[in-house]
Amino acid sequence: MEQNKRLGDISWQDFKALSVVEKGSYCQGEPMHTLVAQQFSRAQLQELCTLATRIKRICKRRAGANFLKTLLSDKRAMLYFAQPSSRTYLSFNAACQTLGLDTMDVRDTKTSSEVKGESPEDTLRTFSSYADMIIMRHPVGGFAERVAWMLAHTNREIPVLNAGSGADQHPTQALLDIYTLERSFEKIGGIDGKHIAFVGDLQRGRTVRSLAWLLTLYKDMTLHFVAPEPLQIGQDILDLLDAAGTRYVVTQDFAAVLPVADAIYMTRIQDEWDVDGESSTIDTSSFSIGAEHMEIIKESTVIMHPLPRRKEISTDIDNDPRAIYWRQMRNGMWIRAALILTTFGRQAEAHQYYDDYKPQN
Ligand code: ASP
Ligand code: CP
Repeated sequence: MEQNKRLGDISWQDFKALSVVEKGSYCQGEPMHTLVAQQFSRAQLQELCTLATRIKRICKRRAGANFLKTLLSDKRAMLYFAQPSSRTYLSFNAACQTLGLDTMDVRDTKTSSEVKGESPEDTLRTFSSYADMIIMRHPVGGFAERVAWMLAHTNREIPVLNAGSGADQHPTQALLDIYTLERSFEKIGGIDGKHIAFVGDLQRGRTVRSLAWLLTLYKDMTLHFVAPEPLQIGQDILDLLDAAGTRYVVTQDFAAVLPVADAIYMTRIQDEWDVDGESSTIDTSSFSIGAEHMEIIKESTVIMHPLPRRKEISTDIDNDPRAIYWRQMRNGMWIRAALILTTFGRQAEAHQYYDDYKPQN
């Protein structure tokens, strides 16, 4: 992937027309933006995972936690969440606090001057006057890209981190999912060669769309897309997998996938995107997991979910060691801290501290 192209050097029309992979090459410059999963290389994922684990270990001791809080104490982050969120908002906020950033937020556009007719672009430009980084979730697909591009054409180009956009991308969720898979498969050869099953609403689940791409960076993968026909994964993602040479299976037969999957990634029906309640007419009853399935899956298989869940995972299996969705959620805080530190180019100081003090688990 070519790197260090600048958003300030391209027109919006030209940028918009790029493939998602090409767009990724505009995110790695100065400042670094996090807009699409396609911007990351495998080496960068590895670096972020290593840094996340080190930050977590440093943070275990008070002296370490105090050190981390000095790293970005000169920075402020704006959290702009124009869609509901529990985990992403809180884990980004906690990650900022870990690194000493002050945070400000707008969590409901009804409380900003958007109500008075201010455009979303002007709203974001306003935030850039007060903050050094914008972390944003928005219902409009591609809007984070638009904001990063727009700021690149002002004198306040600050990093933009996409915390979920429309039904298309959730790149930082994909980072925490990779971190979770890395840690889960640490003792069984890593992510390479594994079978990953995605189950549920794959058509509108942005976490699946972002994670499926990151998995193309690993060798000899097989992705299983398990969903009722109207909720199956989009052709655009299958095209990306084809281009990357990643093997995949599109199926409705969950029972057949259960014994072969190394990770089962459950998702909820994303009915907030329904036009006319159409989700309620789709039979999703065979796309859920409960105690009866735990007999069939392997001892080493992990069950993941970006959360929130509804009925697709029975609470009966919450205490099975293979149900790792709560740990997955907590991993989000550490990988987001690693991402923020890397965004500001200050990761070397955390590595140095780690090497000097060697904090253990
Ligand atoms: N929390 C994830 C998202 O915002 C998944 C979900 O809501 O189902 O995409
Ligand atoms: N996984 C996730 O994005 O959760 P929230 O929607 O609660 O932030």
